[in-house]
Amino acid sequence: MKTLIVANWKMNPSSLAEANRLFGLVEKGSKKIKKAEVVVCPPFPYLLSMKYQASSIKLGAQDCFWEEKGAFTGEVSPLMLKNLRCNYVIIGHSERRNYFGETDGVINKKIKSALQAKLSPIFCIGETWQERNKGKTRQVLKSQIEKGLSGIKENEVNGLILAYEPVWAIGNGKICSFKEAQVMGFYSREIIARLFSSLLAKKIPVLYGGSVNSKNARDYVREGGFDGLLVGGASLNDQEFIEILRSVVNA
Ligand code: 13P
Repeated sequence: MKTLIVANWKMNPSSLAEANRLFGLVEKGSKKIKKAEVVVCPPFPYLLSMKYQASSIKLGAQDCFWEEKGAFTGEVSPLMLKNLRCNYVIIGHSERRNYFGETDGVINKKIKSALQAKLSPIFCIGETWQERNKGKTRQVLKSQIEKGLSGIKENEVNGLILAYEPVWAIGNGKICSFKEAQVMGFYSREIIARLFSSLLAKKIPVLYGGSVNSKNARDYVREGGFDGLLVGGASLNDQEFIEILRSVVNA
């Protein structure tokens, strides 16, 4: 399996011209790196333009709604994303949970709907600083996974990807060591094994995200046992992002 490196651009950059430029540079730089599957998740308005740029890079969205169509002002459905050549969609990112009040129930509906549309959901889980300090990390991860995947059968989870992102390590340079992350990566697989099967737990890709850069990327994948990375800030700098790709596959 190729190492999966996902760029979450979040609400950046602020113009289509910049987005096209960044996408072009990332594409050029990543062309020779065959051992990694590169996914770029730009803001919705840029997806159309990226669809038309012949590319080895796969496209993903940063969110989706759970209905196919209808009177849901401001929302984007998984089917629309499929139409824009997206293969992936990030669901349950901590910023969506935090700023937009997304509950585990909402996330569950979104995951089901994405799977039905044959999009790969990148299902984000992770504890806050407070939860970590109270020793609740395992409890939080277990609850997020169980609720997020509630009512989904093993034969329906094709394409599902888990992303462990400790909320306290996102966007601030605070580092969750690869050893600490590894323990939670393994624990997440254990939950999957209990919910479904150990076969699925082995098969399901688990990514790490949270202040990943070109200096620490390799450790999470090579030492921490993660199948890939979900990169925020560092994915907005083409050179840094290509360095991350290189460091991970050349190891
Ligand atoms: P940073 O890499 O900026 O910490 O963001 C991580 C993230 O939230 C990716 O989804």
